[in-house]
Amino acid sequence: MTTTSSLISTLPGRSYTDPAVFAAEQEKIFESLWFCAVRAGDLRGPGAFRTVQVGRESVIVVRGRDGLLRAFLNVCRHRGARLCSEESGEVRRTIRCPYHAWSYDLDGRLAAAPNLARMPDVDRVAYGLVPVHLREWLGYAWVCLAAEPPSFEDTVTYAATERLGDPEAVARYRVDELALGRRVVYDVRANWKLIVENFMECYHCATIHPELTAVLPEFAGGYAAQYYVGHGAEFADRVEGFTVDGGPGFGRLPDVSQDQDRRYYAITVKPQVFVNLVPDHVILHRMFPLAVDRTVVECDWLYHPDVVASGADVSRSVELFHRVNEQDFDACERTQPGMSSRAYRDGGVLVPSEHHISAFHRWVTERLAV
Ligand code: FES
Ligand code: FE
Repeated sequence: MTTTSSLISTLPGRSYTDPAVFAAEQEKIFESLWFCAVRAGDLRGPGAFRTVQVGRESVIVVRGRDGLLRAFLNVCRHRGARLCSEESGEVRRTIRCPYHAWSYDLDGRLAAAPNLARMPDVDRVAYGLVPVHLREWLGYAWVCLAAEPPSFEDTVTYAATERLGDPEAVARYRVDELALGRRVVYDVRANWKLIVENFMECYHCATIHPELTAVLPEFAGGYAAQYYVGHGAEFADRVEGFTVDGGPGFGRLPDVSQDQDRRYYAITVKPQVFVNLVPDHVILHRMFPLAVDRTVVECDWLYHPDVVASGADVSRSVELFHRVNEQDFDACERTQPGMSSRAYRDGGVLVPSEHHISAFHRWVTERLAV
């Protein structure tokens, strides 16, 4: 008797451990696609900046005197010194290089340099900071290092909304108007793809997420909300809100529809963003892949501005997904060492509920082949 298997192999172990694979991913994924870099609301006044690692580049995102956000490579045009070594801060009028004091306006133009008057050939625009494409969406600055970025609509906004099956479904949370209630930064000793794969599946939910499955009982069955287009996981009957003990949260966000109420939606925006939508808040993860086996994840809990302004205690709703994050990242860190074992040389398998993860693997493989 012959049997056929519907099991699909994962990527091979070296895909998660080989620095050459990671270098190719930096070039062909993180430096080529739109990358969600900075929460716009973190940069309030002119001169407020944040530096982020995008692929192999350090990028500065800074708010100009005209109120607009701009992004530049964090490299001095004179002799290449790193301009800002802090992760965030505020410059007063210009970005000044600590080496020989070339100074750049917040729009990137070279504003001043010692003895500049005696260097008429130095064009202030040509020797300005190297600009990086920037778009704002969901209240975040998304940057793209490609000379010609892919369509933002095709690769980001559509990709984020297609999973919900209704282009307006995400818009109703008005994420760009929400306020930051809490941010937790996780330094995860695992390859970024393990984190994406883990987020996409729910086969592990019954094993490692007791609090989450108590609120969303269908997750105990192992099928992720992302498996079905348009599907939101329903809260358990006795659960009042998306909180660690199922107690009440805050009021439903104003435009969230009746059919979105008491439901949880999860979206992956490739390559490095996860968005979770629940009636009274939004959780947005940005991943910063720093090495083949290290990924920093910044997770923001976003609430209606009135909730944050009132000083309400958000800790019970933060605690639910904070525990989920810790449980997930522990699992990813537990998996990372196995990726270099000979046991995983040819990869593992995906169970039938995870066919969408094999689509992610195909996407990665195709990106690297370009
Ligand atoms: Fe920046 Fe010289 S390297 S001013
Ligand atoms: Fe999980």
